Amino acid sequence: MNDLFSLDGKVVLISGAAGLIGQSVTTACLEAGARVACCDLDESKMSDNQSNRDSATRARCLSVQLDITSGESIAEALKTIVDHWRVPDCLIHLAAIDAKFDASLDLAKATSFESFDIEQWNNSLSVNMTGTFLLTQAVVRAMLEADGGNIILVPSTYALVAPNQSLYLDEADRQVAFKPVDYVASKSFLPNFSRYLATLYGQRGIRVNCLVPHGVRNNHPANFEQRFNAMSPLGRMCDVDELRGPFVFLASDASSYMTGSTLVVDGGWTAW
Ligand SMILES: NC(=O)c1ccc[n+]([C@@H]2O[C@H](COP(=O)([O-])OP(=O)(O)OC[C@H]3O[C@@H](n4cnc5c(N)ncnc54)[C@H](O)[C@@H]3O)[C@@H](O)[C@H]2O)c1
Repeated sequence: MNDLFSLDGKVVLISGAAGLIGQSVTTACLEAGARVACCDLDESKMSDNQSNRDSATRARCLSVQLDITSGESIAEALKTIVDHWRVPDCLIHLAAIDAKFDASLDLAKATSFESFDIEQWNNSLSVNMTGTFLLTQAVVRAMLEADGGNIILVPSTYALVAPNQSLYLDEADRQVAFKPVDYVASKSFLPNFSRYLATLYGQRGIRVNCLVPHGVRNNHPANFEQRFNAMSPLGRMCDVDELRGPFVFLASDASSYMTGSTLVVDGGWTAW
């Protein structure tokens, strides 16, 4: 069984590797034996993470700056990885923006659908949709020239169900914000985009699946966490390390007959 879940000998490209989930998944892939290309816009966070690794692990971890909205940056990053190792066996694509809003603004207004800003909409779509298109297109081209590969895309439960906006009420039940439409729209295309790629490239050796996390604990306000817990079938938020097993499963040969599927790791959020 251990061999089945091993990533020994595999090269894994992780986009968004400096983020909350990216850091944990990087550690998981390294522990499972992979060589990991950690790619992110944020170079300084990647070098901090790298300096915390021992020298043997550092040798299996390559930090590469990447902007997924730029074809040039993607081509350069892939060239760096191929020159250093080879075409990645697996892409775990986490890079995205979940836009933060200026707290001095009226958040309920800024995040509401009626007054949502077109620039914010375009910005989210350029990273979360166009960036995903550019990165997966470049990786698919490279994988087709190699021995195939394995792509894992990361939507959100809000690609499967609508946000329950009562999560964003304050103690007095006033709506302080909404989960905004840009995130929901730009994540909703991923499950069917992955089915599109899975069916197109299944017989050419490329598997494409989605992994859907939900509610990863990250210093949320107590009021938010209490509301979340009350709505969650498991009654709690997700510890980031609970995503390690599911990601390693999809990245490994243990999931070799899976493609075009959506693995939901949401504590039951979408079950009712
Ligand atoms: N955290 C959650 O609860 C949760 C739930 C569901 C889905 N997700 C999805 O999981 C993924 C990772 O989430 P996270 O919480 O780790 O997010 P995060 O914001 O902590 O990390 C995202 C990373 O992407 C990088 N990034 C942003 N724009 C980029 C660009 N143009 N090019 C390259 N890198 C770029 C950022 O620098 C950051 O390090 C995201 O796609 C998110 O939508 C997260």
